[in-house]
Amino acid sequence: MSKVITIERFILDHQPDYARGEFTNLLYDIALAAKIIHQNTSRAGLVDILGRAGGINVQGEEQQKLDVYADDVIFRMCDHTGRLCVMASEEQEEIIHIPEQFRKGSYALVYDPLDGSSNIDVNVSIGTIFGIYRCKDWELRGRLEDVLQPARDLVAAGYVLYGSSTMLVYSTGQGVHGFTLDPGLGEFLLSHENIRVPEPPKYYSVNHSYYSRWSPGVQRYVDWLEGRGEAGNNQPAPSMSARYIGSLVADFHRNLMRGGVFCYPAERSKPQGKIRLLYEAGPLAYLIEQAGGYASDGRQSILDIVPTELHQRTPLFIGNRSLVQEAEAFLRQEEQEMAQA
Ligand code: AHG
Ligand code: MN
Ligand code: MN
Repeated sequence: MSKVITIERFILDHQPDYARGEFTNLLYDIALAAKIIHQNTSRAGLVDILGRAGGINVQGEEQQKLDVYADDVIFRMCDHTGRLCVMASEEQEEIIHIPEQFRKGSYALVYDPLDGSSNIDVNVSIGTIFGIYRCKDWELRGRLEDVLQPARDLVAAGYVLYGSSTMLVYSTGQGVHGFTLDPGLGEFLLSHENIRVPEPPKYYSVNHSYYSRWSPGVQRYVDWLEGRGEAGNNQPAPSMSARYIGSLVADFHRNLMRGGVFCYPAERSKPQGKIRLLYEAGPLAYLIEQAGGYASDGRQSILDIVPTELHQRTPLFIGNRSLVQEAEAFLRQEEQEMAQA
């Protein structure tokens, strides 16, 4: 039997120098929240028997929608520990303050409690995304500024994929590491150490039904990914297959393991696209760079965008560096053409 390394052991052995105690324990808290969410999402198919979300279950308790439930689990895991000064969640309009009765800590947590929630009812993989910043001000209780930081300043980011196995993948800036939940043991065990996005890439992922809503530059880029149309940067695209799940975490994870690019471009009537910068694009951009890839909004690195709003959206191209840079090249070319017209 090869060596079994639990996530607790790994975090302890690999914690950055500054990360004594508080930060390490924060990662444990998230891993524990992930196990609790896993337990509930894996029973989602029983809602018709045990009671529908939003309804009353057999115990007479009110059932929450799973994304609200996941939001609550993460909040409750983290509100009283003295490690956070503030949180921000997709499910909450405003920043989430640490209740007054609890000590405040030095980190800020941003999260998408349940990503791909439209897939829950059809038993397709879903996920949780998180990012951790240092609080801007050590004295004050959490403020909006603490979470409106560019993803380059993240001190850690990760996701949990509730798929055929439940996996937690994270980075603290020293590579990307993946852990698979052994449901019998209730432990995340190291299964993928130091993940690098492989070459050549295998997959491109984009919701093709939106083709007519994209600008000509995006359309030409997607044509290029599909091996049609003009050569970008005078290079033919590597031969790739299409895969699109509609859960960002699941699409991202597959492409991280096999190589590829995920695109959620701007649309004519949605110039900011759909993906949220703070708790979707930002943390995943941090991870992909740690794995040797790149993430862009089509113009600049996602890591450099300074958020101005909590629920700000951004176009997203994320995956193997060369594929994402090609998207930037197509969009630059489009801009030049428009300037000349
Ligand atoms: P969420 O469930 O957190 O709101 O996120 C859904 C997002 C993301 O997971 C996915 O990549 C995207 O929506 C899919 O959107 P389309 O259905 O428009 O392709
Ligand atoms: Mn999401
Ligand atoms: Mn969500």
